[in-house]
Order: sequence, then C-alpha cells, then structure tokens
Amino acid sequence: MVMPKHHHLCFGTKVILCFISIICVGAYPLDFSARTVDTASLENLQTLSESITAQSHDFDSSVHGDDSTTATRGLLFSISGRMGRSSGAQLTRSSPGGTLFSWGLKEWRLGRTTGDTSVPEPALINLTVISIAASRHSAIATADGVVWTMGHNDSRGGGGHGSPPLDASGQLGRGGTREPGPVEGPLRGKFVVQVVTGRYHTMAVTADGDLYSWGLNDWGQLGRQAVGATSESDPSPCTAGPSCRSGIPGLVLLPRGVRIVGAAAGRYVSMAVDESGRLYTWGHDGCSNGGQVPKRSQAYKPRLVEGELAGKRVVAFDAGYVFWLAATAEGEVYTCNSQDDGYAGTLSSRRAYNNAGELGRGGDPLLPGRVTGVLSGKKVEAVAAGREHAVVSTSTGEVYTWGSRDLLMGRGGSSKEPGLAMGALAGDNIRFVSAGEYHSGAASEKALYGWGSNGYFCTGVGRGNPVQRLKAGGEHGDVFQPALSQGIIARGGWHIQAMVAGFQHVLAIAANRGGSRDIEASVVERGAARGLGSATNNAMAVHTMAADAGGVSSGTGSSSGSLPFEPEAVASGGGGGDGGGGSAVSATGQYIDTSAPDYHTRYLAPQLHPIELNASEYWRRHVRSPRFELIQAQSPDIWKLLPAAYNPSLKNPCWTQEGRLRCIPYFHILGVSKCGTTDLYHRLSKHPLLFKSRNKGPHWWDECIHPPKGPCTTPPNGDFDGYVDLFADAAEMIQQNPDGITGEASSNTFTSATGVYLRGPSMDRNTTVTLPELMHEASPFLRNIVILRNPVDRYFSAFYYYRRWTPTQSPPGPEEFHDTAQKEIATWRTCVNQRGLKYCIRHYEPQQLVKGMYSEFITDWLINWPRDQLLFLRNEDYSAKPREHMEAVFTFLGVRQPSEAEWTKVLKMETRNKNSNKYKQMLPETRTMLEDFYRPFNERLAEFLGDDRWLWQEPLPTTTTVSVAA
Ligand SMILES: *[C@@H]1O[C@H](CO)[C@@H](O)[C@H](O)[C@H]1NC(C)=O
Ligand SMILES: *[C@@H]1O[C@H](CO)[C@@H](O)[C@H](O)[C@H]1NC(C)=O
Ligand SMILES: *[C@@H]1O[C@H](CO)[C@@H](O)[C@H](O)[C@H]1NC(C)=O
Ligand SMILES: *[C@@H]1O[C@H](CO)[C@@H](O)[C@H](O)[C@H]1NC(C)=O
Repeated sequence: MVMPKHHHLCFGTKVILCFISIICVGAYPLDFSARTVDTASLENLQTLSESITAQSHDFDSSVHGDDSTTATRGLLFSISGRMGRSSGAQLTRSSPGGTLFSWGLKEWRLGRTTGDTSVPEPALINLTVISIAASRHSAIATADGVVWTMGHNDSRGGGGHGSPPLDASGQLGRGGTREPGPVEGPLRGKFVVQVVTGRYHTMAVTADGDLYSWGLNDWGQLGRQAVGATSESDPSPCTAGPSCRSGIPGLVLLPRGVRIVGAAAGRYVSMAVDESGRLYTWGHDGCSNGGQVPKRSQAYKPRLVEGELAGKRVVAFDAGYVFWLAATAEGEVYTCNSQDDGYAGTLSSRRAYNNAGELGRGGDPLLPGRVTGVLSGKKVEAVAAGREHAVVSTSTGEVYTWGSRDLLMGRGGSSKEPGLAMGALAGDNIRFVSAGEYHSGAASEKALYGWGSNGYFCTGVGRGNPVQRLKAGGEHGDVFQPALSQGIIARGGWHIQAMVAGFQHVLAIAANRGGSRDIEASVVERGAARGLGSATNNAMAVHTMAADAGGVSSGTGSSSGSLPFEPEAVASGGGGGDGGGGSAVSATGQYIDTSAPDYHTRYLAPQLHPIELNASEYWRRHVRSPRFELIQAQSPDIWKLLPAAYNPSLKNPCWTQEGRLRCIPYFHILGVSKCGTTDLYHRLSKHPLLFKSRNKGPHWWDECIHPPKGPCTTPPNGDFDGYVDLFADAAEMIQQNPDGITGEASSNTFTSATGVYLRGPSMDRNTTVTLPELMHEASPFLRNIVILRNPVDRYFSAFYYYRRWTPTQSPPGPEEFHDTAQKEIATWRTCVNQRGLKYCIRHYEPQQLVKGMYSEFITDWLINWPRDQLLFLRNEDYSAKPREHMEAVFTFLGVRQPSEAEWTKVLKMETRNKNSNKYKQMLPETRTMLEDFYRPFNERLAEFLGDDRWLWQEPLPTTTTVSVAA
C-alpha cells in the first residue's frame, strides 16, 4: 500500500485504557508513627501465655471518623468501581503492574534510546508500570501513581481547524527534556491510575475519580480553561483558540460529584466514563450534541453522550483520528464520527464522513450507532481506534477489524464492515488490542501480535522475518497477516497486561510471572528483563514459530500460541446446586463446584514444577539486578555477610564462616497472620529433614530495623548476622543431614510487600525498593509459601487474638465484634477518602482490616518472583485436606515424602493456635458486611491467581471443619 505523503507525520490518535489496579510500591516518605504493633513480639507473647492480661493494644480504637456515606462512595469508587468484574473487566483490564515494553519508532517516546527497537524489549526497567498511553508522545503511570511523560511537546504536523503548529503545546505537562520524566505540579501527591494521550494532549484519571488534562486546548479538548499555565507565552485563561494550551495539569470541568473511572483522548476530542458507565465527550465532537459540533468557545464543556448509547453502561472506549468507538457492558459496539478530519476542514466541508468505513456500519455517522454484522451476538470487551480503523476483541478472545486499508485488517473480505482477523492470532485468547496509524496489534496474556505497515517495525516483527512482504531493497516489509512479535516475551513466561499503539510505536506492560518454565530460563530472563540479556538468543525459535504461524490461514490456529505455558487451572466446573454438593455462583457467573472430589486440592498441582537448580547453583548463576546498588543500600549488612558461593554438597544454602557452618532459610512462609502459618510451620518441622529456626517468626525482614535498635536486638540481633544466628541449631542438623533444610515463618512478610516496613522505620523512606525485591536479590533461590484464609474469618480470628480481657471478664461478644468491624470499615473509608487507597494500605489503617486485602500486596511478589517459587495455599483447603497439602508443600520444597510412620507424626500434631472455636460465631449481618467489604479485593486476587477459589464464595461448611490457626 502506498503511504500518503504525510505518513511520516503524526496522524491518528491512539490511546487506550489499560486499566489499572491500585497498588503500592514505594517511593513516598512514610510516617511510621501511625503504626501499631502486631507480629513477632505479640505472637511470642501470646504463645508464652494466653492468659496474660496485657495492656490493650489499641487495634479497634483508632477510629477517626464516621462519615460513612461519602466514605462508602469513595471506597466503592476506589475499589470495585475500577477493578472489579462488577464494572466490567473491559474498562478494568487491570494491570497489576509490570515492566514497560516498547518498540517501533526509535525516539524518546519509547523510553529506550539504545538497542534494536524492532522488537518488544523492556524500557525504563526501574519503574513498575500500571498504565500506558501512546500517540506522538507517551505517558505512563507507575505503581506509585506517578505519571511520566516522554516524546513530543509540540503540535507540529497539526494544523487542523485553523490552528497553527505550536512549538510547545505542553502535552508533556512539565519542563525539562523530551526524555522520560515525572509530571508533578498539581499531580503531586495524587495517585494516578490511568493515563491517556491524544495527539497533542494528555489526561490522567486519579484513584479519587478526578480527571486532569494538559496540552493543546485549541478545540477545548482539555475540558477546562487553561488556567494555571505559568508560561509567559501561554495566553491563559482560554478554553479554545489556535494557540490555547496549558503545560500544567488541571482538573477537567465535569459536573459536580461525577467521578471518572476511565478516559480516552483523540485528536481534538476527549472522552471519559463515570462510575455509572455514562460517557461524556468534549472538544471537537457533535456525538453528544445532536450531531452538531458546538461553537469553538463552548466545545470544552463535557457533554453526556446522546442517542442510542445514552443510558448504556460503557466499559471500553477509544478515540481514533476521525471517529471514536465504545463498547457497552453487554458487549455491543457503537461508533460515531467526531467530524474531525484533521485536514483543516477539507473532509468536513465535503461531509464525507465514514468514507474509510471506519464506522463499520451504515446510519447517521454523526450520532452514535451500533455496529452489527458479524459482531451481533458477540461480546466485545476491548476496543482500539486507529487512524481510520478499528480493532476489537471479544470475550471469547477473537479479533475483529474494520475501516481503512486492507493491510490493517489482518484478513480478507470487505474492510467496511467487521470481519474476523486471522493469521497467527487465530486460536489464541486475545485480551488486548491496539491500533496505530497504519498498524494493528493484539495480545493474549502470553503473546504479542502485530500486522500492517511495518514502518519503524511497529508490528514487533523484526528484521528478516519471513512473514513480511518485503519491498524491493527494504527491510520494513508490510505484514499482511497477524504475526507473532519477537523479543523476550515470545519466549514465554511473561504475563502481558496491556498494549497500546502510538502513531509509529507501541507500548506494552508485561510482568515476568515465571510460569512453568525452568528456573534457569527465569534467571536468564530476569537478566534480560533488566537489560542485561539479549533477545537474540532465542531469535531462531521465535523466527520459526512466527513463520509457521504466518502460514496459517485456516483460522484453526492450532500451531499458534503454542508457547511453553501450561494453562492455568481454574476451579470451576458444572453446576450441581444441591444442598449437599456445595456450589456457588462466582463473580464470573460460573459455578464453583465444591462437590468435585478434588475440589480442595486441584489448585495445587498446577503450582508445582520440578526444581531445576538447587540453591547453590541458583546463586552461582544469579544475575544481579541493575538496581542492585539501590537494593544493597537498603540493607548493607546482608551483603557484608552473604558468601560468594554456598556449599554445593548441601541442599540448604549454607557456608562455612570462621570454622562454623552458617545457614540462611531455604524457604519462607510469608504469611498471612491468622491464616495458619504457625500450624503449617510446626507441622512441616515434623519432617525429619526440616529443621526449625530458633524463632518461628523472627520478622526480621519486615520489621527489624537497621542499624540495630529497639526490640529486635535480642534475638535476633537487628543485623543480618543476628538473623543468621537463628539458624545455628538448624545448621548443626544440616551438617549431619546434607539433604536437610531450614526456613522460617514470619507471618507478616507477605503483607509488608509494599515497601512500607522494609527493614523497619530506620530505612530510607524514599526508597522504591520493595521487600520482595530485597529478598529476591538476597536469596533468589527461596521457595516461598503463602497461606491465605477467607479475609472475613481472618479478621474475626485476629480480633480475638489481639483483643484482651481480664480473667474475670467474659470474652467480647458478637455485638462488640460487629461494632469494631463497623468502626474499622468507617476508619478505612474515611482514610481512603482523605488520603487515598495507597496511603491507607501502607499505613495499615486500620491494621487488621487491611491485612485481609491480599490483592493489594500480592502484585509485588508476583512481579519480583518467578511464579514457580511461590506456592499459594488456602487455609480452608489445607484444613480439609492436610495430608494432600503437606504433600504438595514437600514437593514444592523438593524434600522426600515422609514415611507412613512419619506421616502419623505430621498429621497427629495438635492444631496450633486453635482458639476461636471458644468464641461465639459472628452475627450473620456482620459476615455479610465484611464479605461485601472484602469482595472487590477477593475478585482481584482471584483474577491475579486465575482461580475463583480465591473468592471464598463456596457455601460455608455446615460443620466446623475450618481449623482456626494462626
Ligand atoms: C530509573 O533509571 C533512570 C536511568 O537509569 C534514572 O534516570 C531514573 O531516575 C531512575 N528512576 C527511578 C525512579 O529510580
Ligand atoms: C512543554 O510545553 C510547555 C508549554 O506549554 C512548556 O512550559 C514546557 O517547558 C515544555 N516542556 C518540554 C519538556 O519541552
Ligand atoms: C547442586 O547443583 C550443582 C550443579 O548441578 C551440583 O554440582 C551440586 O552437587 C548440587 N548440589 C546438591 C546438594 O544437589
Ligand atoms: C526524601 O525525599 C524528600 C523530598 O524529596 C527529601 O526532602 C528527604 O530528605 C528524603 N529523605 C531521605 C531519607 O532521603
């Protein structure tokens, strides 16, 4: 296809929702004064004497306020509104956070200036990214909620509607250079969960539901007056006009009380959806104004969309060059021409809307209308609008395309109506789509695909790949069929979370999730992910796969997507809702078949993989993170002591120091407190080859301060040397048993993942180093076990564990528990409303309620550790099937299974910390209240772990089989 003469300029717009989770990684100064004490000292105290009438630890009196109505709203908004399946995974294709990948046009907008940019490769590797947007410039939101921008800050190539190009249209939102940099100003302290970029403007959605905009405002696309601009050349305030712009983020003037959950930005149009799914548009757009574009001076006012789309809940949307599209919760797609042709009014004056078939339908082009044809009956979940073409994907993972240029369709047939894209992606479960100026893209959770014009290698199909149809002498051959993109993602093990296309570049987010790959590969890939490796190692394999896949045209696609991945087990089966069975409707509408004979154990097997490298070998091959110096600075004592090599004849990591054998843990039980960590630890220790630490839960990693000070001084000493001493007894046993191992179970390690309590309050509070990152760097071979329990029951258990009463008093009753729960929920809501979700999680406000929000802590673990070094157990399943779970744990640890006689010892052990049975059950209304409270968190957890079991939705057991263990 011949490119129009302006093809090198910057047309089209591309934005996408890469929706977002709210997670907490750390770079904020922290205030530790708010913290209460739970953990090591308390647990030990408890073990020593249950009857001590200790002073009341104020867990339930830290209630600050009770403004529950607005706070509830705030909470629902902040949590379920944006991440639950409740509001549609489409809008909330949530990205728990990962590494930014980029490819295509080699410039500052990629976040990488070196290397071969023809294949997807990591960029800005020291940032964890949760949202991405690309057009001529790029914007990302980091896991800290901070926006970074890079690329163009001018409106060259523009000139539509009479606006002259400006040298500084301000879409970077900051001064400095065009290299990546954070946007501050009014965004400082805000937690941004989504960024979107239009051609010359940028917008950011905050966790609080506010929408900020900056950049060119010549058609009111900023949705506000350009006040706040301080630049002398910025003629503010202005709402429209050729030179109107604002280089400083400002609030979009939405109606009072409207909370935004997602946005999209086009060339001169902007769009946003509120928490009820209502779509607003502003700028150069008549779709919400009876088909009439408002006067230029009035265009900045956000307008509720009209026509057929009014009253529908919009869950996915995108703005292209001349049109936009929106998908509803039902999966219907609507399109509308925004009367923006970009050529200074030439198309408008011809009124040739839909001339490229970009609307994919007939009917009035100037009002929203539904796209039908082959899309009828399909549920569209993800949409992307390119220059004049659309790429959408359905709930069943198929891709449909329509609009301008056969090359961009990835299929045959008419491009004026939707058709099924074929090629390498056929058969894969596509979750993300992207549409650039003249290229299209799609991604499943495991593989990236691209097709179309391959200028600048936008398709991710690099040099020399045979799927390209080469022009004579060129290397940027067009890719006529969806082809597998190259690079390290194609090797497997990466979990793709988002993909967006700019005009001539593409961004994606992917996290290294380990998957079922061998550890060696994961070590190598971690190195590669951090810029230390090369994507070319495996170029041959990928090359071959892509070539094969490119040849598939039947659509059966059995050869595509054949990456080295095991499908994840999902615990959902058929119905069978008889009382005895126990099935429950999950949030996805599936039934959790709890009557299946293997219900309690089926999730274990997919988590177990052969251990390819032993600890000493793993350490030998470990590639240090490029962030090593940063990490080391957080705890220099660790690296002062760690040996260059571990004794290769021992299974456990041990070395000889001054004549004695010293060992560090081979495994950790990371948490969570009141979920069975103590029981599991002591039961494991019945195995003849598992040797206990002197302290089951020293809480050294998550709490002991450095340098030594305060309660951690003895034992363990506050420094790493003291910590290692805890394993001195185990070391003696290991000396006699080379296959022996040791470990510890500090039950709050998992929930200290946000960096908050990284080695305690004496640590640099500005650090971006998280605890999972520190632990990975110090002992990358660790096997980590996490045991979780229905957060409602965990909370109940914690209440009785920490609440003190004198022997003459009777235990607090269910009413008091209800009051406490209610107050703590109010405290949380107030906190979220006032300080934002991230702050409240980090500050445990309030502590016991927050600890059950597992989803908020899990991401840093998943990002930093190969999945096969993490084993997630459910307390309820463990209690129901202890032997099967212990077997799984022994397999996970790579120790031999016990003999029958040894099993007797393991299984006979008294359940630890079994005390809640003494107390009265909570009231049904308390349970309902807490279940509602935790539901959105559980939904996210289930999404991350790919298993509905983590919704804890199966009916409660009628008999009390749940062991109450800490
Ligand atoms: C990330 O690395 C780049 C270059 O190495 C550096 O300029 C930037 O400040 C780093 N950012 C953070 C948050 O550490
Ligand atoms: C971008 O443009 C704005 C004017 O709107 C200017 O204040 C700012 O310094 C520019 N930033 C860069 C990185 O060029
Ligand atoms: C660990 O692996 C290395 C390399 O394969 C081997 O030399 C060593 O003997 C192994 N150690 C143990 C305890 O298995
Ligand atoms: C943390 O950052 C703030 C603001 O940048 C700075 O004032 C403070 O000194 C920093 N603290 C440490 C411990 O580096």
